[in-house]
Order: sequence, then C-alpha cells, then structure tokens
Amino acid sequence: MSGRLDLDRMARIFPNRRSLGRSMIAAGIFNLPARTPQPFEPRAPLPQSLTQPRRTLPTHLFPTTPLPTNLLPTILLACYGPLMTTQLRKAGANWVDGDRFFDREAELEELRERVQNGAHTLLTAQRRMGKTSLVRELLRQLEDDGHYATVFVDLEAANDPADAIAEIAIRAKPVQAVWRRIQSFFANHLRTVGGRIDEVALSELKVRLRAGIDAGNWQHQGDQVFAALAASERPVVLAIDELPILVNRLLKGADYRLTAERRAATDEFLAWLRKTAQEHRDAVVLILSGSVGLEPVLLQADLSAHANIYQPLELHPWSHDTSSQCLAALAQTYSLDLPDETRAEICRQLRCCVPHHVQQFFDYLHQHLRRNHRNSATIDDIRLVYERDFLGVRGQVDLEHYEGRLRMVLGVEGYTTALALLTEAAVNDGLLTDNAIRLYRNAIASSGTDNTVPIEVVLYSLEHDGYLEVRPDGYRFVSRLLEDWWRARHGRFFTPIQDRPI
Ligand SMILES: Nc1ncnc2c1ncn2[C@@H]1O[C@H](COP(=O)(O)OP(=O)(O)O)[C@@H](O)[C@H]1O
Ligand SMILES: [Mg+2]
Repeated sequence: MSGRLDLDRMARIFPNRRSLGRSMIAAGIFNLPARTPQPFEPRAPLPQSLTQPRRTLPTHLFPTTPLPTNLLPTILLACYGPLMTTQLRKAGANWVDGDRFFDREAELEELRERVQNGAHTLLTAQRRMGKTSLVRELLRQLEDDGHYATVFVDLEAANDPADAIAEIAIRAKPVQAVWRRIQSFFANHLRTVGGRIDEVALSELKVRLRAGIDAGNWQHQGDQVFAALAASERPVVLAIDELPILVNRLLKGADYRLTAERRAATDEFLAWLRKTAQEHRDAVVLILSGSVGLEPVLLQADLSAHANIYQPLELHPWSHDTSSQCLAALAQTYSLDLPDETRAEICRQLRCCVPHHVQQFFDYLHQHLRRNHRNSATIDDIRLVYERDFLGVRGQVDLEHYEGRLRMVLGVEGYTTALALLTEAAVNDGLLTDNAIRLYRNAIASSGTDNTVPIEVVLYSLEHDGYLEVRPDGYRFVSRLLEDWWRARHGRFFTPIQDRPI
C-alpha cells in the first residue's frame, strides 16, 4: 500500500483545483495553464508611472534617487542592471507592503486580473510565504489607482459567524458610502450619546455591532453587510485573511473534536458565504487566505465542495535568483557588502527560499556584522549565522508557530502522527520513505487507539502546508531550514521506526 493520498478521490473532490499539491500536478491530474511571457523591449525608456514612486520614500534612508522597490526587479535589472540598484527596507515582524515589498509582480498581476474579472481567489501557501503581504500590497495599489474600494479583514480572533460578520462590517468603515448603510442598518446598536459616532473608538463600535448579531440572525445581518458592500459606487475587493482558522475552530471547537453538530454549523456558514459571494460577484470580489490551508481542514470534514467557487492561487517560494536580488537590495540599503557567493550560500543553506526566512537571514547577518564592526560578509559568516543564530534557541522560536498551527489543524492525535513522521524524515537526511510510512500505518492500526485523523490526511496536510514534497520513494522536507530545525528540536532521542524493538 502506498503512503500517498488516493489521487482519484482527490481529483473528484477538487475538480477545479489547479494547485492541489505537487504530487497531483506531477501526476498530470491537474494541468497548470502555461504562462504567457510578458514581452518587453530591452532598454526601453521606463514608463513614467514606474519612475514616479506611488509613495515618497524617506530620503534619509535612500541617498540616491528613490525608486519604488516593488517594481519588477527582474525586468529592471535586465534592462538597467548596471545603471541602477534596487533598494529595500528590512521587514519588521509583520506583513510588508510599499517600500518593504519585493518582487511578486507576476502574482500581483494575476490577482489584479482576477479582481477585474470578478473571480474569487483562495490564496494558498505555507506560513510566512508572503500571502498577507501580497494581498496588502495589491489593496494598496488598487486604492492608489482609485477604481476599487478595498476592505481587509483578519478572522484569526473570530469564534463564530457572528464575529466574522461584525469584523467585516467594522473593517468596511473607511469606505464611507458602505459605512453609512451599515450604520443605518445597525442604527439601534450604534446610537451614541449625542450621536457623535465618529468619535467612538473602533473597538467600541465593534462591540456594539457584535451585540446586534447573534446565532439566530447572523445570516440576515451578514446579507445586509454584503448588500452594503455591493451598493458601493466602486466595486469592493474584500480580502479575508485567516478564514481557515475560523473554519477550523467552528469544526473542532476548543477541544479539537469534530462533532456532527459542529460540522453542520460549519457547513451552514460556508454555504452562506458561497451563496453570498456568488450573488454579489460583480460588485464584491473575495480574496481568501490563511496561515493554514483551507482544503486540509475541509477534507477532514468532507466539506471540500465549498472551496470550489474560489480559484486557487498558490504562492511559491522565491527562486534563488530572486532571493539573491532581494538580499542585494537589502544590502544596498544598509550599506553592506554581500558578494555574489555569500548570497548564493544563503540560498543554498535555506534550499527553499521562503521570503520570511530570507529576510530573517539578512537580519541575523546584519546584526552579526554590526557587532563585529564590519560591513562585508564572507562565506564563513553565513555558515556561522545559520548554525548559531538560525538553528539556535532564538532562531527556533519560529518553529513553535509552525508546530502550533499543525496542532490546531490536526488535533492532538493527528499532531502526534505528524510529529513522528516529520522527525522520522529529519533524522533520515530529510527523507520519509514509503516503507517507514507503511510501518507507521501498521503501528497505528495495531495500537488499538481510535485515531480519527488517518495518516493520509496528515501527509496531505504536511504536503499542502509545505513541509514535505513527494519523491519517487516517499516524501522529503522541502526547506532545509525546517528540516534542520526539526532535527535540532526533536531528533535527539528519537529512534527511527525500523530500529525499534517489536
Ligand atoms: N514580497 C515580499 N517582500 C519582502 N518581504 C516579504 C515579502 N513577502 C513576505 N516577506 C517577508 O515574510 C514575512 C511574512 O510575510 P506575511 O505576508 O506575513 O506571510 P504569510 O501571510 O504568508 O504568513 C514578512 O514579515 C517579510 O519579512
Ligand atoms: Mg498571513
């Protein structure tokens, strides 16, 4: 028996899915449409819109003529390579846009096109790949263009549909025409002493809106909020981040148990969202995203059909080339000398260049050089920073978030299986063989525990969320960093399954 998922079943579940996982694409079940390369004239004069930044960059940080840093670096470097150097400010702890945002031109263009076509999107990628940043940057650009009104909603803290609707309503406040309608609909709840609603804090307004929505009327109130959005004179782009976290919470509650009642409530919410999104598709375009995949969550409850109206868009890691350009741009901004070979070494260490990891590497390196009063890096610096800072306790903090998300999606039992499978791979040079998977399946079956998360679902989640990729004889860690982290944290006292006494 193979450890991989039943591909036929998956193809039936997700007939329109174009990025269900590398295995399925590789198996030829889903074909990626070929991208038409954008023609460009080498060394053509820069269009005026590109030479005039949308935002004025702080000149004290940019001693040379400021250019927007989110231009298509590849094209610019190809056309003007020797004449210009892109600059980029370091990311903080959060998502980035504007002068901290790099690359992703193709994805921005794709998303923009979908918005213009009224197509709803489900943005998928593993954590820290830059989903929120991509959406924020798109919304920023759309706002600048002035053709669309944009609303960004984060549902990480939402517990139920009523919370979600209150959050959407409050985040629509900056769109005045929409907010006026919401205000008049919720007039009873928003009535304030003296009627000075603009002086009431956002958090207070949200509490009042939320008081007007309950388990019995959320669909009706939600319809009203969407009707207000749809009545805006400009079409609205509604970005909903962390929807899968709410769906997962609805399905499993605080005890991570999937019950029939919870499944029915989740079904009802997703069916409503689907119906509403279809009804207003010309006026309100949805972009859904989240730090856990929606499909693995839905698959566990057999609710996958609800995802069919959202066109998936998979955000990939940066290529080594793009990452190297990003590092060069950061180095330029902070006056560091990062020769080609040091940038190549950073990419080699990471193997899979998740933008956050590239940024984090630069930050550690910057701190290291600063402490040593140097501004030029060597290959030895790169290796030292990787081993000491990235793999050290401080660097591993990020891994806790990864583990937390896995626990959230898979529950205690599924997480235990995932922990074993990933550690097995980490101590075996990154490889999880089909044979090891077979042994785990047998061990789980003979343990007599009522394991509600089958090993196939665990593997699907691990593949979907970017931990593992399919290889001819099993799976392999995608990111070298994640593999090394995992080994450093869990590998020490671990015995591979075939070495265990029977
Ligand atoms: N386009 C980008 N340009 C520069 N840095 C990026 C970009 N996308 C992501 N990052 C880096 O990754 C981090 C995480 O980005 P975020 O958008 O929050 O990812 P996600 O939503 O996928 O978890 C950011 O803080 C930043 O360091
Ligand atoms: Mg995010």
